[in-house]
Amino acid sequence: MLQITPRKLAELKPDPQILDRAEVAARADLAALQRERLAWTLRHAYENVPHYRAAFDAAGVHPSDFRDLPDLARFPFTSKADLRDNYPFGLFAVPRERVARLHASSGTTGKPTVVGYTKADLDVWAEAVARSIRAAGGRPGMSVHIAYGYGLFTGGLGAHYGAERLGCTVIPVSGGMTERQVQLIQDFKPDIIMVTPSYMLAILDEFRKQGLDPRASSLKIGIFGAEPWTNAMRQEIEEAFDLHAVDIYGLSEVMGPGVASECVETKDGLHIWEDHFYPEVIDPATGAVLPDGERGELVFTSLTKEAMPVIRYRTRDLTRLLPGTARSMRRMEKVTGRSDDMMIVRGVNVFPSQIEEAILKVPALSAHYQIVLTREARLDAMTVTVEIRPDADAPEVREAAGGRLAHLIKDTIGVTASVAVLDPEAIERSLGKAKRVIDRRPKD
Ligand code: DLL
Repeated sequence: MLQITPRKLAELKPDPQILDRAEVAARADLAALQRERLAWTLRHAYENVPHYRAAFDAAGVHPSDFRDLPDLARFPFTSKADLRDNYPFGLFAVPRERVARLHASSGTTGKPTVVGYTKADLDVWAEAVARSIRAAGGRPGMSVHIAYGYGLFTGGLGAHYGAERLGCTVIPVSGGMTERQVQLIQDFKPDIIMVTPSYMLAILDEFRKQGLDPRASSLKIGIFGAEPWTNAMRQEIEEAFDLHAVDIYGLSEVMGPGVASECVETKDGLHIWEDHFYPEVIDPATGAVLPDGERGELVFTSLTKEAMPVIRYRTRDLTRLLPGTARSMRRMEKVTGRSDDMMIVRGVNVFPSQIEEAILKVPALSAHYQIVLTREARLDAMTVTVEIRPDADAPEVREAAGGRLAHLIKDTIGVTASVAVLDPEAIERSLGKAKRVIDRRPKD
């Protein structure tokens, strides 16, 4: 098995001296800061956003009821529907003139959800992303190739200002034009790439297509996020490029990329920047707060946001909270999926990440895949479409690989899937977030 050059890790682990105070704070000090900031946020939301005032009043709570961290559980949740209902600026807590920037997420249906930032919010965001890049092993003076999309999506600009804040040379490529991505990596020799993991695979294919050795590229660090990806995918990318792949998480409603990030020295889940974002994990069915360590839906309350504070925002992302390791802040386990992505196939709950893990256990299959759901004779059927690796393409290999994958899925997940092994490049490449599930079942 190929290894990542170990020399690189020793160079990347940051000197503890350069970390922010909060990153090494005692838990009690962090909790005191959170209490103070939560009290401010609850008041700020109640006094300036009619939606929160109405929601708190309806739940019979007032910001003055908040005395300690567990009191937060008495306050109502906020959901994506609340953002849509208050489209476009109804959840802003400052006059529009004080909003320095807008972002929006397109969503799958209907109106986009709009978010706003004051100058101070943009400052916090840049700091949080700078901290994330540093956690990944980035340092001032390194150069960063940014292939997250620029525009209303928070990925490109969020990464951009964070990299700039850390003191890096920023290469603002945005997504798309894969040939040019490779050309620029070859010519500008960046140390770091920030991109969705699925688009990184498209870049990898392009390296190979051009006859270039990806392991010989200048890249030392990849900071991947905006979509779920497994540790099996991490290994795939690390070996292919001889780089360290770390996870970055965020969502526009809470800020954008940089809400939580992995540390290169441990790669054991994402440290939540808890001095700005307060996490809870709840039972998605009852809304009850779960103790740390239990899996459920991640909920965030912003601690410092001025333009658009969010109170107990339900992310739909499934994970669990774990104690801090490389930093004082708690970690969230790698997000394995969103509750909306969960497929119920003949009664069995299945996440795309489970399929991804199974695929990456079959050496002849590439990591490009999609899951197609159909309904036949009132029963759900799942077809996994996946590409053969170009260097393994032979009819008997295809058949054996397909059979092996179907077996693995049956054995490890417990569902029957048909597998279609396709030609290399048969599956459409996304330039940003990959679309993993195509649901062709009739809507009931
Ligand atoms: O995807 C922000 C971002 C950009 C994060 C670049 C990281 C890097 P949204 O478009 O609002 O924002 O989508 C947020 O994407 O609720 C998760 O479901 C998913 N997501 C984001 N990061 C990760 C990750 C950006 N590291 C939604 N792992 C979130 C798994 C992720 N899912």
